[in-house]
Amino acid sequence: MTIQTIPTISELRQALERQRAAGKSVGFVPTMGALHAGHASLMEVASKETDLVVASIFVNPLQFSATEDLGSYPRDLETDTALAEAAGVGLLFAPSTDEMYPEGAVLTSVDVAEISQRWEGASRPTHFSGVATVVAKLLSIVGPCVAYFGEKDFQQLAVIRRMVSDLSIPATIRGCPIVREADGLAMSSRNIYLEQDERIAAVVLRKALDLGIEAATNGESSAKAIGDLMANTISAEPLAKLNYAAAVDTATLEEVEQLVGDVRLLVAAQVGRPHLIDNASVPTMKEGAVS
Ligand code: PAF
Repeated sequence: MTIQTIPTISELRQALERQRAAGKSVGFVPTMGALHAGHASLMEVASKETDLVVASIFVNPLQFSATEDLGSYPRDLETDTALAEAAGVGLLFAPSTDEMYPEGAVLTSVDVAEISQRWEGASRPTHFSGVATVVAKLLSIVGPCVAYFGEKDFQQLAVIRRMVSDLSIPATIRGCPIVREADGLAMSSRNIYLEQDERIAAVVLRKALDLGIEAATNGESSAKAIGDLMANTISAEPLAKLNYAAAVDTATLEEVEQLVGDVRLLVAAQVGRPHLIDNASVPTMKEGAVS
């Protein structure tokens, strides 16, 4: 199927109405462009699971603070379109900022309390509100769909899941596994900012997660012990500046005490210019197994 690029909300809605009238199910992959194999994997899963894949490319100003890289965020619509087409996208929604926010100032925002304030939210207090607001708007434009998000931005996924549940938005949210480089570094559009030595050092995030998983597999059930192990591993890398390392509840992202139930390991560090994040699931004990 040849990809069709659509710049306006009304044209996208019309195109989707026609497809739905023909009985087609819709998969949706929202992105900010700078597409890589991680995005392609979301599009490929969407194209296996739904009849028509819509992807969006929109660098959303609401989720950048004044000191972040909005102006220099990588943009290459031609290359992105080719990747999206090869990955099975049928409709590519690529609106301008004026199309998305015609009034200029945006007076309505979506705030998912608590989950948004932890971890990434501690240093980026307005970020998740910007993400939740644009995703709510995109889901309202696309309509009922299965929406695909990478687990790499695990906090973003938790925020969106909670927003969709709280607001009864008619979308099913699917988290998809992190796609990694051969040495284990999680793929990210911001990895291009890494200098050569930083790129090598960045693997320490994956190494910290692996050590945390190994300790849990060997019977360590104290979340603090696992968090300390991961933090010490990252701190031992001279080019990495630790931001956090913790074991958290998968839905609320609250720090847990014991590895019981659904727990996720989160790590974050500054390596050169980019702030890198990574996460992994971890083997835990059954509820009631820890006294
Ligand atoms: O993960 C991203 O690329 C963005 O945060 C998203 C979900 C497309 C919202 O702008």
